[in-house]
Amino acid sequence: MGKEKKIGVLPGDGIGPEVTTEAVKALDAIAEKYGHIFHYTYADVGAVAIDKTGDPLPDETLRVCQASDVFLFGAIGHPKYDNDPKAKVRPEQGLLKLRKALGLYANIRPVSAYEGLLHMSPLKEEQIKGVDIVVYRELTGGIYFGEKGRTADGAYDHCAYSNKEIDRIGKLAFEAAQHRKKNLTLVDKANVLETSRLWRERVQEMSKTFPDVKVEMMFVDNAAMQMIQNPKQFDVILTENMFGDILSDEASVIGGSMGLLPSASIGAHSAMFEPIHGSFPQAAGQNIANPMATILSAAMMLDHLEMIDEALDIRHAVKVAIHNGMVTSDLSKGRSFGTDRVGDFIANQILEGEQGQTFDNIHLGSSTII
Ligand code: IPM
Ligand code: MG
Repeated sequence: MGKEKKIGVLPGDGIGPEVTTEAVKALDAIAEKYGHIFHYTYADVGAVAIDKTGDPLPDETLRVCQASDVFLFGAIGHPKYDNDPKAKVRPEQGLLKLRKALGLYANIRPVSAYEGLLHMSPLKEEQIKGVDIVVYRELTGGIYFGEKGRTADGAYDHCAYSNKEIDRIGKLAFEAAQHRKKNLTLVDKANVLETSRLWRERVQEMSKTFPDVKVEMMFVDNAAMQMIQNPKQFDVILTENMFGDILSDEASVIGGSMGLLPSASIGAHSAMFEPIHGSFPQAAGQNIANPMATILSAAMMLDHLEMIDEALDIRHAVKVAIHNGMVTSDLSKGRSFGTDRVGDFIANQILEGEQGQTFDNIHLGSSTII
């Protein structure tokens, strides 16, 4: 039975509009195949929103997100703000406000190494083959949202966590581990930080209710090293906001390209899906950005909507694209394709399967269905 869903779409800045267009193509293909109806509502966020309204997150955009079942987010950021530490209004504020206003406390970032792309990673193939990690990053607390300010001769950023903030994401991470390899690594800096010691206490306490999950505690400096030396040891990583920000970027090199990594930001009433990569302004408008991270974010969105087969279809189509070399230049040392061609291929693959999309006719641009 087909379902009807309201999907917000916030393309944002830089390559955001191009990659979200391709993700919507994939969603449209899913809707057609399964008889679902997806209603899209578009809204501005980031530098484009500042240009139009002076606000990186206009009220109207927040309303669109609140009124949607789920929403897709492209990217935000513009170079004109990056080199100006004094800028009062910044695109990133739009994203941070969105996370806070909608209570998107759990940021879920899966990282795996795709067969066929192992050679793209700067790490050795034998080290990354089979890597399958998911980072659960706390997203609405810690140093990002603590009191910050200037003093007469300095500045400060306050880091605080409550039991509740730790417990609610901890629960999601433990549950994820139960469905995976049953390993959970808490990453912290408990040898120095009081908040980290609280994280350890709460996680130790919580582990009593998840006896089947093996828990390990690791300091963040060591974890940063282990992530490169032996990433296969990790299954679920649970960590606070800033450590998660840094570690998930580090983990992204395992897959060979940031252009492949999706993410979900989940709250009690809203859920947002976005690629991990930024707005990549140098590539904007050139049809060279890799749309796969956003397309895979759409797959996470479908999982969240309990459309499991649909999500699998998207992931499979992306694998077929990679297998056939139907990829953008970040994933190919030889022939590569434009953002839109890769998106078309994936949408067609969802709808038509392997039929008609053989390696030869794709590369000649003469496929019967492209
Ligand atoms: C991320 C980004 C953001 C963050 C920035 C854009 C504020 O780096 O989503 O990882 O630091 O959380
Ligand atoms: Mg980041």
